[in-house]
Amino acid sequence: KKNPLWGGRFAAGPAEAFQRFGHSLDADLKLWREDIEGSKAHARMLGATGIITEEDAKTLVRGLDQVSGEIEEGNFEWSVALEDVHMNIEARLREIVGEVAGKLHTGRSRNDQVATDLRLWTRAALDRCAAAVREVQKAFLHQAEQGHDALMPGFTHLQIAQPVTYAHHCLAYIEMLERDRLRLLSAREHLNESPLGAAALGGTPHPIDREMTAKALGFARPMANSLDAASARDFCLEAVSAATICGVTLSRYAEEVVTFSSAPFGYWKCSESFSTGSSIMPQKRNPDAAELIRAKVGRLAGAFTALTLQTKGLALAYAKDMQETKPVTMDALETLEATLVITAGMVREMTINRDRMAEDAGAGYATATDLADSLAKDGMPFREAHEVVGRLVALCEEKGCTLSEAPLDEARKISPLLTEERLAALTPEASVRGKKSAGGPAFTREAASRWSRVLGS
Ligand code: ARG
Repeated sequence: KKNPLWGGRFAAGPAEAFQRFGHSLDADLKLWREDIEGSKAHARMLGATGIITEEDAKTLVRGLDQVSGEIEEGNFEWSVALEDVHMNIEARLREIVGEVAGKLHTGRSRNDQVATDLRLWTRAALDRCAAAVREVQKAFLHQAEQGHDALMPGFTHLQIAQPVTYAHHCLAYIEMLERDRLRLLSAREHLNESPLGAAALGGTPHPIDREMTAKALGFARPMANSLDAASARDFCLEAVSAATICGVTLSRYAEEVVTFSSAPFGYWKCSESFSTGSSIMPQKRNPDAAELIRAKVGRLAGAFTALTLQTKGLALAYAKDMQETKPVTMDALETLEATLVITAGMVREMTINRDRMAEDAGAGYATATDLADSLAKDGMPFREAHEVVGRLVALCEEKGCTLSEAPLDEARKISPLLTEERLAALTPEASVRGKKSAGGPAFTREAASRWSRVLGS
């Protein structure tokens, strides 16, 4: 059977195998709202500019509303032979309103249509993701407020480094997520221009009003160049890139959940709602949610790679390669949104073991830097103080004791400034309280209340 839209120049229809290979209905089933919205805007514009009569425009809009209702109610028969959402909807419109349906495609093409649809879809998805990031931030703030005075070891190389607080740790994620959110919104801002009216690639001789359709669809303005409008898929790359970076943030937290909830650490505990058991080991409580969050970024980065390879080296303007960008972009943004929602729930319900964390906050000579800093405050060059404390740590390691338990006579031999008083002052609490440099853990209360004003929670 010949294609109803371009049958004119063909003697036969496409091979059935090619139809099955070539259609884009899987992704397009998610684009029908955007497609109808775009078509209605276009029809109204055609009427307003006198390109078609106002009456024809009204008929088209009414017909499109009926199609929309049918799809909504599940009474719409999608046809693989009609390849995509655009042709399926137009074919049904023709059944409903008759020949006037053929006027809808005046001054446009599927090339600007699909670009418009995908921009609208991506814009909404980015908005949902940005809102979901906010929920994760609120969950971290909840944790910070619950555990604001809980000590926790800070790590480098996953070796105990210096004492921090649990709240400081949570607030670090709020900052990271804020940059992630702004990246998502910046991708949104960059894509928010209308390709509609670029037609196939070279514009149209009809006196269309691209400002009008852009405005109707909530775009800031029409895209300036018709070739660019039909060709551009960098908006997919940018959106998925922002999504991938956010996925990296989530994966870092997820990795910490897996590590810190394991028995040797025992700092954090996932709620039962975000844990699973084992079918064989009755005692198990596994952080599956965290592990999935950790892994999902693989899908996001994979999508970014796929988009890169799908669009690299594509000559302007449209090429069917671009059809492949749709499912990839959608899967990435849907994956990020779902991952954010689960992360928010998991974070909110996390419980902490203050004693375990406090124990480690003071372990592993975590206050050694504080001791060196206190010597430096009394005039010893920091490099020398570092050397002195290094020798004291070696001594304590040999004796199997903490810094404040160091044998005083031997400590004094390393430096007369290593007094009992100075060593006794070395507690993780004092360490954190003393970290008064801007951005330091002494100020987590202030940081938390600043975020609480921003997040309104
Ligand atoms: N189904 C196509 C896509 O998703 C729509 C645009 C087709 N344009 C074309 N000239 N074949 O990309």
